[in-house]
Amino acid sequence: MAADGGIPAQPLPVAARAPGKCIVFGEHAVVHGAPALVMAIDLETQLFARAAPATSLNSDAEAVRENPYFREGLARAWPDGPPLAVRAVSRIPRGAGLGSSAAFSAALVAALGAVTGGIARRDLAQRAFEVERAAQGVGSPTDTAASVAGGCVALNGGDGPPLWSVRTDERAWEVRRVPDPGWVWVVAHSGIRRATGDQVRAVGRRLASADGAALLERFRTVAREGIAAVVREDRAAVAARMRENQALLTEVGVSHPRLEALLAAAAPAAEAAKITGAGGGGSIVVLPIPGREVDLTRRLARAGGLPFVVRPAPHGAGLIESGVRP
Ligand code: MEV
Repeated sequence: MAADGGIPAQPLPVAARAPGKCIVFGEHAVVHGAPALVMAIDLETQLFARAAPATSLNSDAEAVRENPYFREGLARAWPDGPPLAVRAVSRIPRGAGLGSSAAFSAALVAALGAVTGGIARRDLAQRAFEVERAAQGVGSPTDTAASVAGGCVALNGGDGPPLWSVRTDERAWEVRRVPDPGWVWVVAHSGIRRATGDQVRAVGRRLASADGAALLERFRTVAREGIAAVVREDRAAVAARMRENQALLTEVGVSHPRLEALLAAAAPAAEAAKITGAGGGGSIVVLPIPGREVDLTRRLARAGGLPFVVRPAPHGAGLIESGVRP
């Protein structure tokens, strides 16, 4: 294991945790190489693995075939390993754009990496991405990068310390640390679950159309300026770029009436709000007017959302060392 704060070796049984995420700038465009800003959030998945007579996930033996993240995780991080009983519990709503699948993939690869002698953080980032991408068929390493790194990170942007690059055969994404400005954020789930892969493919078709290159360039500019605004802790500029990013997401067709209703409900208590993640359902992220967080969560709940006040989770995926057993 490299000395990069990686996952140390540990025999079974093993317990791991990994945070969810919230994209502030650049979802969808990042799949095509544009910059993005993402933060790990303090909603997490915990996972516990022990030797067992047959492999299962939360007592379901069919999950080996039917849960693509579990199947791909075992194939990549536990090939030919003996049977395991895995339990996973999470506070991250599923299919909500808040990184539940990235957190599951990162926690599973971290746990199995520990049992197979430890794993360097950059390898954990690459492998967790490969699990998520194989399960979804498309996508960027944005969600898994946040879940593995913790805190705030930029993909293909920012000028902070480089962490690692994550690649497919066709493309590489540079992941850099962005200082956390220490702000409180609010996310709210619309209650509508959607498949990330379907949204990504639909936006890919839109970006391949006649004006697609110009549209992608506008996504690039907004994310680049948004990242710079976060670095200089300029809330007004961050809010302005969030609104522009939301207009672009609407233009590529990933909004939804329920998301629009949440954005409208948030407006009186928000500096800015936008869709976060793949859209088409899922969640919004809000930069609240300071001191109005409680009012904001009430407004969002009244509009039918499931709100969470979140802060960047400082630590990425890691082992749970104190005998905590989900
Ligand atoms: C999903 O959380 C973010 C997308 O940009 C897809 C991806 O980057 O893999 C929509």
